[in-house]
Amino acid sequence: MIGKTEGLSGDSLQNSAIYPGQEYTCVIESLLWSGEGLAHIEGKEISVAGALPGQQVRIVITRMHGERPESKVLQVMRKAKDEGPPRCDHVHDAASASWQCIPYNKQVALKEGMVRDALTYGVPVDEQLRMTLPGRVLRVIPSPHVFYYRNKIELNFGYENMRVEESGGRRKFFDENPNIGFHQPGEWSTIVPVTDCHLYDEQLAVLLNEVRRFVHDTRLPVYNPKTHKGILRTLVLRRGLNTGEQMICFTVNAKKKDLEPLFQHFMRFTGRPGLVSLLLVENTGVNERPDHPKIHCLHGKPSVTERLFDLEFEISPFSFFQTNTFAAEKLYQAIVEQADINLRDIVLDAYCGMGTIGQYLARFCQKVVGIESHPGSIEDALRSSSKNKVANISFYKGRTEQVLAHQLPPGGKYAFDVMVLDPPRAGLHPKALQAVLAHRPRQVVYISCNLATLTRDMGGFLKGGYELRSVQPVDMFPHTVHIETVTVLQRKDS
Ligand SMILES: C[S@@+](CC[C@H](N)C(=O)[O-])C[C@H]1O[C@@H](n2cnc3c(N)ncnc32)[C@H](O)[C@@H]1O
Repeated sequence: MIGKTEGLSGDSLQNSAIYPGQEYTCVIESLLWSGEGLAHIEGKEISVAGALPGQQVRIVITRMHGERPESKVLQVMRKAKDEGPPRCDHVHDAASASWQCIPYNKQVALKEGMVRDALTYGVPVDEQLRMTLPGRVLRVIPSPHVFYYRNKIELNFGYENMRVEESGGRRKFFDENPNIGFHQPGEWSTIVPVTDCHLYDEQLAVLLNEVRRFVHDTRLPVYNPKTHKGILRTLVLRRGLNTGEQMICFTVNAKKKDLEPLFQHFMRFTGRPGLVSLLLVENTGVNERPDHPKIHCLHGKPSVTERLFDLEFEISPFSFFQTNTFAAEKLYQAIVEQADINLRDIVLDAYCGMGTIGQYLARFCQKVVGIESHPGSIEDALRSSSKNKVANISFYKGRTEQVLAHQLPPGGKYAFDVMVLDPPRAGLHPKALQAVLAHRPRQVVYISCNLATLTRDMGGFLKGGYELRSVQPVDMFPHTVHIETVTVLQRKDS
């Protein structure tokens, strides 16, 4: 039975209420702009995480969220019409839908529809204005490479499974099969191993398997977050796709001095061509991501070099750098194509990371000012701009909302003509939005990979005296539900 009452029993049959834990079978009708599938059960809209339009799926209700209950896929009963097999083994276990089974041109069309729908339904302005917004969405710029595009692997060491033994009324737990992979959401005791991933750069995939073999051979104990025992915690592998340089970075629950004998094993990798950086990060605390990690360089340099256009960047293990190098160039070109930046302009590059956007834009304008809160990224930005001989750029370390309010207030050192904003997924802090509006730049260029916060913040700009000129989607993340956008807003009286 599709949709209606399969899975209902007892009380629920009598009042036919939908509540968490219930299971249903339904057909996914379309894709919501949040990326979930949409189905109807008992005439009610249900959002289905991990589902694709056209699939018939077995779902379980996970929570009641406002008017629309949320659910996730338990099993795909029937595939969508043009659905093929995924290439990666582990996608079956990932919580979000992998789009690998959909042809790439269809993925791009679905993403364009999501962006249009987000503008149609998600921007908090009056309906008359809202209806004009989707017309500003341009065709998606596809990723130059559809597979093997990721320049970074970030995974956990962990155990694939846990064996339980009962003896004398007591239960004993044994971790089994150490491996490298990711934790399912809410599941911290075991990992899903990543063995055959076709999204990572192929050289990185080879390196990952070498590290895995090394872990098996040396029997290094893997860290268990519950007991706080074990050594190997996380692994970061990076590769400059335009330079070939590679990095291995282990984070360990140990002090460097206690690991001296193991370093000999680590050094085994250093003969590998292209391996320019072997790092060991001490983290003996409970926090997975300490604010100031102690990084030891065991071989080579503490970074890998990547090239974007004619610019080179030294990437440290934990600095932000776009994961799809070739699509990043498309993204930055889209900024120049969509915004009107001229040689007299003073441009702000807020949330600048290591200053990649700003260093590219510097050739098209008079001056660029970058703001970034992560201290390591600011150091990377200073180093690379000096190496790249970009003279008309400077950087401020701090939170955008604070720097714009205190160090660079309106009427102060710079009158920004164009403000480029590339915040994290959480979008703009309300004070950052107010500070940008107070500066009254001619144009705001807002780069986002999260349609929910893009539409929210776009509402703030539309109410604050700006009009929407264009939204350019760029596909930085093939085979996932995510889409990057470059939005240009123009001050109405400019
Ligand atoms: C999406 S990344 C963009 C990086 C860069 N624009 C690029 O293309 O590589 C967002 C950056 O904002 C930084 N960040 C987060 N919150 C911030 C804040 N309140 N003020 C300034 N930077 C912030 C992060 O450290 C990160 O480097």
